[in-house]
Amino acid sequence: MSKILITSALPYVNGVPHLGHMIGCLLPSDVYARYMRMMGNEVLYVAGNDEHGTASEVGALKAGMDVQAYCDMNHARHRDTYKDFELSFDCFGRTSSEQNKEMTYHIFSQLDKNGFIEERTVKQVYSIDDKMFLADRYITGTCPYCGYDKARGDQCENCTKVLEPTDLIDAKSTISGSKNLEVRESKHLFLNLPKIEEKLRQWLKTKEAFWPEVAYSIAQKWIKEGLQPRCITRDLKWGFPVNKPGYEDKVFYVWFDAPIGYIGITKQWADEKPEERNWKDWWYDAKDVRHVEFMAKDNVPYHSITFPATLLGTGEPWTQVDYLKGVSYLNYEGGKFSKSENRGIFAEDAVKEFPADYWRYWLMINIPESSDTSFTFDSFAGTVNKDLNGVLGNFVSRVLKMTASKLGEQVPTGGDFTEVENELVKNLQQRVDAYLKYMNELEFRKALNELRAIWVEGNNYISVTEPWSVIKENQQRAETILRVCINLIYIFAVLSYPIMPKTTETMLAKLGLTTKDMPLLKGFDVAKEINFLKPGHKFTVGEPLFERISPERLDELKQKYGSSK
Ligand code: MF3
Ligand code: ZN
Repeated sequence: MSKILITSALPYVNGVPHLGHMIGCLLPSDVYARYMRMMGNEVLYVAGNDEHGTASEVGALKAGMDVQAYCDMNHARHRDTYKDFELSFDCFGRTSSEQNKEMTYHIFSQLDKNGFIEERTVKQVYSIDDKMFLADRYITGTCPYCGYDKARGDQCENCTKVLEPTDLIDAKSTISGSKNLEVRESKHLFLNLPKIEEKLRQWLKTKEAFWPEVAYSIAQKWIKEGLQPRCITRDLKWGFPVNKPGYEDKVFYVWFDAPIGYIGITKQWADEKPEERNWKDWWYDAKDVRHVEFMAKDNVPYHSITFPATLLGTGEPWTQVDYLKGVSYLNYEGGKFSKSENRGIFAEDAVKEFPADYWRYWLMINIPESSDTSFTFDSFAGTVNKDLNGVLGNFVSRVLKMTASKLGEQVPTGGDFTEVENELVKNLQQRVDAYLKYMNELEFRKALNELRAIWVEGNNYISVTEPWSVIKENQQRAETILRVCINLIYIFAVLSYPIMPKTTETMLAKLGLTTKDMPLLKGFDVAKEINFLKPGHKFTVGEPLFERISPERLDELKQKYGSSK
């Protein structure tokens, strides 16, 4: 058994998660966590909200609320949505917690002590109309590197270059739209990345063979371009006040304390049950831990460069990332998701329309692994109707109904396996091995295609063996076939669990089982599992597993959530 630490990038508390956020980090990390638990590992799955920064201040201002109350409210909303999506976090915390403050202060002090923090006077953009310094994303303008005209003050989405707000050409405030901006001077603290660069290079080298190409190449590109010192303080109210004399009226930059949040959130969790939980087992001098991070690709630079450098600079044995899964973007009907333009489907609405598993399945089989993809309702309806209803749902109801009506609601007895069953077991074992291999490698599209192919094997088997006609001449043979089919339902239920946990529960319930009856996926032996349910074992037919999406319903959905622009 190994210890697997899984983290999902921490969604901003003020944002409303849409399907793109779900597939960018939250859902694949959950699938992986469930899978790793079923492989018999000790898993700690950590996520939470990223709460600091101007975004929260502005959000609270617009809502007419105190920032803390605003964050409390939104945090609860995130928590509920993720619960509805069946995300199985071990801990879901917040970067604004006392524990995270303590971690942030400690890490900052170490960096300072080791000489990686320097003071600089910076020119900052002050918005006269908004009466505040405009940081980060509250300034847009033209990127000086690639000419993209909607670059933000902290990063150009187009060329991924990290920017300082004053780099932008023809800048304006995104709060008021005002161009009445003025540059003011103020003293700030910088993380001296060039000074850590050599250590970082060496560390990165050790990751080359293990990280996926996308993540490694983004990190390399950054290093090649030369690292710049990074400002880690801001003139804001909402955030952790800087623990250094002369800087008490400033706060740490949101991106400084956010990734430290993974550790802070773990400590939040450990503090709830100090007798049995210890955050250090996972984060500090923890040699037996494998750390896997999930994030959308725009987060890769922070997780492959800035945060590792921050930890390296402390000179302490912090757990670093071993594998970093960067996911490309999911668009909506060819355009962007936009809450303000009311376009796209947001997670909390999605689960009101259909059970979470429909979304989980569509998202995972379409995860943008190698390039950006688009969500469309046509594709969604097609997948729900074909894969979930046509392949999986249909197999389950056909088998159970046929058995119930011809032989009663129990696993029939039958006789020995024939060549067809031996062939089925062999094919399935190959597919299961491939499925597990792809899950291990975090190649989710490939894994999901194997899972679907596994369900298809069931359909092929029943088409070839035709138990409905065999039963007329040879009842014993028909019993064998249906006994195998019912065991296939059990096998499909177990294998589908990381992706569709509720569907698994429903399938198992039809067979009088619960998830506690599931075997480990490690060393999954089809030959053994296909004989798990013995003759006489009771089942119930119950409701169909999935609902078909009719053309009328499809039109309604497109109307309701807006189509492409
Ligand atoms: N809140 C950031 C985003 O949504 C992600 C922060 S990841 C963290 O892009 F680890 F730094 F918290
Ligand atoms: Zn650019």
